[in-house]
Amino acid sequence: MNLANMPASFNPKPGRVLVTGAAGFLGSHLTDALLAIGHEVTGVDSLITGSKDNIAHLASNNRFKFVHADLCQPLPSDIANAKFDRIFHLASPASPVGYVKHQVVTLKINSLATMNLLELAERTGARIFMASTSECYGDPLEHPQKETYWGHVNPNGMRSMYDEAKRFMEAAAMAYHRERNVDTRLVRIFNTYGPRLALDDGRVVPAFIKQALTHQPMTVQGDGSQTRSLCYVDDEIRGFLLLMECPDYHLPVNIGNPDEVTVLHLAHEIRELANSRSIITHLPLPPDDPKQRCPDIALAKKLLDWQPTIARRQGLEKTVAFYRQKLGL
Ligand SMILES: NC(=O)c1ccc[n+]([C@@H]2O[C@H](COP(=O)([O-])OP(=O)(O)OC[C@H]3O[C@@H](n4cnc5c(N)ncnc54)[C@H](O)[C@@H]3O)[C@@H](O)[C@H]2O)c1
Repeated sequence: MNLANMPASFNPKPGRVLVTGAAGFLGSHLTDALLAIGHEVTGVDSLITGSKDNIAHLASNNRFKFVHADLCQPLPSDIANAKFDRIFHLASPASPVGYVKHQVVTLKINSLATMNLLELAERTGARIFMASTSECYGDPLEHPQKETYWGHVNPNGMRSMYDEAKRFMEAAAMAYHRERNVDTRLVRIFNTYGPRLALDDGRVVPAFIKQALTHQPMTVQGDGSQTRSLCYVDDEIRGFLLLMECPDYHLPVNIGNPDEVTVLHLAHEIRELANSRSIITHLPLPPDDPKQRCPDIALAKKLLDWQPTIARRQGLEKTVAFYRQKLGL
């Protein structure tokens, strides 16, 4: 991420920052940005869905420390006894493949582990940022989704371990803020893509890119008329940094790109960008798959002066180039 794109008013004092999920897709990009700002960063990760490859380039950075730990267990002593200025809590399986495979971990990391981190923030006076999700809106009946929409979620369906855990996380954040004055920030992240997404975790962009680059059939679920709104990772991380430093706002804020595209159109676009000979085939729609997702970002514009700047085609080009190199093609 290019810090030159941050507004002149963004000028945080370098401090000590904890990033949970630092070896994941968003956590590793966030860690890079925090180090570029000048912070000292402790990254913690169990590597259950992340990879050390995502932070290998930081091995010799003396302002970065990696702690390999499962946060569903009590906090490791080097975290529990440390003093952080900021905590970014991003650890959680995040793709349908990941959270269905790790259902109990998904529930615990967004509930018990989240409360342990809220208590750490309370004890040490750290500001804590928590990664919630557009999945809180479920299969929405309102379009686009504003933060004030309460959602349409199946409480016991095939995504419930994720949707409901994130809804609990939001309730926990607000309770610790309202009752104990913890300085919380809540982001509702919409579908984000870019380099370092795991290739095999079923998320639509890396799945299509891998199939296109290897000229395998590109598998569209259903007829592909369902829509997704895709945000390039640099825009998303810029939103995280601005929200963390925004004074005194504790309710959730949507950070995502309202540029909506059908899944079928996305498949064609990626096939073209990858110069692929893949054919496009169709699979059944998974249960509880949302038909439409699109953030209303009026609040982020007003509160943070944030909006995405990277067009989908530009972001996809960079992402295809990353995987082309990673796959040695
Ligand atoms: N990427 C998106 O489009 C998106 C959308 C909405 C919300 N989010 C949220 O953003 C956060 C990061 O998502 P991501 O896309 O980077 O996913 P990711 O899977 O790449 O990263 C999550 C990281 O958390 C780690 N982790 C999971 N459980 C853990 C545990 N018990 N202890 C320690 N570490 C653990 C994983 O190993 C992984 O490195 C998640 O909370 C996710 O719910 C992401």
